[in-house]
Amino acid sequence: MLPQLSRKQEAWSARFNEPMSDLVKRYTASVDFDKRLALFDIQGSVAHATMLNTCGLISNQDLADIERGMAQIKSEIDAGQFDWQLDLEDVHLNIERRLTELVGDAGKRLHTGRSRNDQVATDIRLYLRDRVDHITGLLCGLQTSLILMAEQHAQTIMPGFTHLQVAQPVTFGHHMMAYVEMFERDRERMVDLRKRINRLPLGAAALAGTTFPIDREQVARLLGFESVCRNSLDAVSDRDFAIEFCGAASLVMIHISRLSEELIIWMSPRFGFIDLADRFCTGSSIMPQKKNPDVPELARGKSGRVFGHLMGLMTLMKGQPLAYNKDNQEDKEPLFDTVDTLSDTLTIFADMVSGITVKADRMAEAAIEGYATATDLADALVRKGLAFRDAHEVVAHAVRYCVDQGATLESLNLQQLSEALSLAKHGHAQVVVDQALADSLTLKGSVNARSHVGGTSPDQVKAAVAQAKVRLSI
Ligand code: ARG
Repeated sequence: MLPQLSRKQEAWSARFNEPMSDLVKRYTASVDFDKRLALFDIQGSVAHATMLNTCGLISNQDLADIERGMAQIKSEIDAGQFDWQLDLEDVHLNIERRLTELVGDAGKRLHTGRSRNDQVATDIRLYLRDRVDHITGLLCGLQTSLILMAEQHAQTIMPGFTHLQVAQPVTFGHHMMAYVEMFERDRERMVDLRKRINRLPLGAAALAGTTFPIDREQVARLLGFESVCRNSLDAVSDRDFAIEFCGAASLVMIHISRLSEELIIWMSPRFGFIDLADRFCTGSSIMPQKKNPDVPELARGKSGRVFGHLMGLMTLMKGQPLAYNKDNQEDKEPLFDTVDTLSDTLTIFADMVSGITVKADRMAEAAIEGYATATDLADALVRKGLAFRDAHEVVAHAVRYCVDQGATLESLNLQQLSEALSLAKHGHAQVVVDQALADSLTLKGSVNARSHVGGTSPDQVKAAVAQAKVRLSI
């Protein structure tokens, strides 16, 4: 008596003598997640069939049947009416089986000269190329929000930090533009890695190529690939492009996470530099006063999940002998989740950044209270003839004087300033304390003085904004 094989096993039935248990079926199936590739699978199959026809490997009638069947399948999928079957393992076997149901023998001829190994590699590349273009656009969107925020706040002064201690005054616009730079590099990386996605594996068949006289270049042209993968063994087993994407995605998430950390700190009432729009925050179920920056906190957390996917994919690949191994089926969920996490995060952040309320008074206060202009005072003393190390010492004493008096550097009158500067042993004997010196202590004087390319002055921020707008065609 013949064994009761599953539909999946029927695809290669003659070789098998016992059925698969339901658990093993579930364990080996991928249709639940790879059905996401369906439209790319259809696109790849139609291009393959077109080439088979051009090369005289299937008839015009077969091609017409395949095209008609695939159009029908696409509309069933679009309408949510396609009957996905776990028994048929994956997206490829599901679609092929339905095609054969719809158009008969032409459906059975489609698989001439190809294998699921080159088919799935093609599908993922088509999928990822599409998503990378989308993500590149989303990065532009977030950069646009940051640039507009920078433009609006080219003159707004906040304390810049090193070691999270107040260091020197910077403009908020300058700070926003720092992130524009990070996301610009991320965008460059996406554009660059797209080139390595955009190569066609199809034609490699299972691993060694095919005995049929196929035309891979034609398929590449039809699918918009720049070239064909040059080696069939590499074509079916390469997932570098997916790892590279997850690496680039991880860098995006690192930048998102740093921005998130800053937003969280700035929104803490202890800082009070900014407020986020209510729609990105939640309250506490017990503490009525709370408004929590949930979205940045979650984004900071989700960066870990993306790094995890990168690590997962690297580990997946490292032990695989050439060529295709079933391990590769495990590439999809991490890749899909990375794409989803990144896309959602970037979309939300573009909106959240444009909705930031800047509390300029609090920022200025924090800069003044933190003696942020101490370096400017030291620089001014250098211009009056002191050696920098001496000037540093003189100003350190002056700051100490302010701390003792509960004063800020900016609030000292000329008399007090003179006194403060005389406390060090290299004191004010050599220094004329005049209004120009006092002016160098103001926040405005400090940022205006840093007016070179890459500097924090409002003029430089405006110039950087203008250049970025040209780059991004805003
Ligand atoms: N579902 C498989 C994957 O995602 C398709 C390729 C299967 N090939 C094979 N020889 N079993 O990798």
